[in-house]
Amino acid sequence: MRRALLSLLAILAGGAKLHAAEQTPLEHGEYLTRAADCAACHSAPGHAAWTGGRAFALPFGTLYSANITPDRETGIGAYTDDEWVEMLHHGIGRGGRHLYPAMPYNSYTLMSRDDALAIKRYLFSLPPVKAPPPPNRMNFPFDQRWLMVGWNLINNPDRRFRPAQDKSAEWNRGAYLVDALGHCGQCHTPRTLTQGLSERQFAGAKQAGWVAYNLTSDKDHGLGGWSDAALVQYLHEGQAPGHGPASGPMAEAVQNSLRYLSDADLHAIVAYLRDVPARADGAASVPATPVAGAGGDDALGARLFAEACAGCHLTDGSGRQSAWAALGGDHSAGDPAGTNLVQVLLHGSELQTTQGLMFMHGFTGAYTHQELAALSNYVIRHFSGRAGTVTAADFAPVGK
Ligand code: HEC
Ligand code: HEC
Ligand code: HEC
Repeated sequence: MRRALLSLLAILAGGAKLHAAEQTPLEHGEYLTRAADCAACHSAPGHAAWTGGRAFALPFGTLYSANITPDRETGIGAYTDDEWVEMLHHGIGRGGRHLYPAMPYNSYTLMSRDDALAIKRYLFSLPPVKAPPPPNRMNFPFDQRWLMVGWNLINNPDRRFRPAQDKSAEWNRGAYLVDALGHCGQCHTPRTLTQGLSERQFAGAKQAGWVAYNLTSDKDHGLGGWSDAALVQYLHEGQAPGHGPASGPMAEAVQNSLRYLSDADLHAIVAYLRDVPARADGAASVPATPVAGAGGDDALGARLFAEACAGCHLTDGSGRQSAWAALGGDHSAGDPAGTNLVQVLLHGSELQTTQGLMFMHGFTGAYTHQELAALSNYVIRHFSGRAGTVTAADFAPVGK
């Protein structure tokens, strides 16, 4: 009770620091660094933790994330407090260098100065590692960083989070976690022509080959059909009964960030998402059990599913051994476009959980593109009763 009261007071004071009462300043900074998921882009496979080097393939070149260990030469060690806040709020790095918005400062701009500095304090407590990120390869004129001045005028809201007076403390905490820290809209909100975030908040969007689904309160297309408990479980564990597992970029968000959030914070996120106006965009939700006989006339797809998939997922999609292999009601198994299904078949997926590593390997070596397309359309029909539109070309990288 006392804890709840303290939390409420902290939120009302505008600091949105739910845990300030029981965390040391460093723990608080670590919690915020996780909630903001800086690791998603600044820790890359094959590179030491926090040294960046993750490649972002943009239409006009390749950009690499920065080393954010406190090394003075190659990392963030020389940043002053004011420079740090300027970087997170306005996307302007040391020496006035304009950052590209692959670094989501148009979300972090909502962060309070205190929270921005708590993150800095935590990162400065890590061992410095000398590691220059690979040089960017951006084509002219996009290598001209000052062009971002125009982008910022249109697309960076450049304001701090202000609690809505007519909403509860829980809603406001959720809004802060989702919009300022978790930057959920960077994947789930459709973009404008200039690549800013559009007004159609959380209507669902395609990002780096994956569909980040509709998170609005629409019952058929968004989260309206999910219970609070299922949503909290999905964010905490990366799977929920009747909704399937999180793969790809969402599995990463759960693994690096969401699974560390407190129960109160996860409930706050849900309270806020519940209130997002409904939009009937994107693929409709999928029934919790496979549609009987729907895929029965497709002998090739059915055979391949039995051979390659049912061993882990079972024919009825209930999943063997682990709840993460249950596919009933899974948005990706029943989306007629098959976008994320193609991604998991191409690249596999993995998710570190309290019950060990959940893992699915990719299938490109094992089958032809035609077979994978037939298999995909079978999966979509089997789990949703809808006709899939996956073709062999979906599995062929451009130019091959
Ligand atoms: C979605 C990916 C992504 C996330 C999440 C992200 N960053 Fe970045 N960040 C980048 C990229 C890409 C760059 C390089 C941008 C450029 O060179 O213009 C970058 C650049 C930076 C820089 C370099 C500034 C400089 O002086 O060159 C710092 C510092 C930084 N990020 C800190 C953070 C912190 C702190 C967080 C979490 C609060 C974070 N980033 C989250 C992608 C990300
Ligand atoms: C880096 C991109 C990215 C970020 C950031 C991200 N998501 Fe996702 N999200 C996805 C993708 C991609 C999927 C689909 C995953 C799949 O197919 O398993 C997804 C799926 C989901 C789903 C399941 C929807 C459904 O219909 O199955 C929920 C709920 C969700 N995200 C909530 C959130 C919340 C809340 C945040 C912020 C705290 C967030 N996401 C941040 C990319 C992202
Ligand atoms: C070795 C066991 C295993 C095999 C074999 C396997 N899967 Fe998976 N699959 C999993 C696990 C575990 C996950 C969850 C991974 C995660 O959460 O990152 C998963 C995830 C998925 C998802 C993603 C659901 C979502 O919403 O993100 C789909 C779709 C899928 N599998 C379809 C298939 C198909 C089709 C086959 C056969 C070609 C197959 N799987 C073979 C274990 C397996």
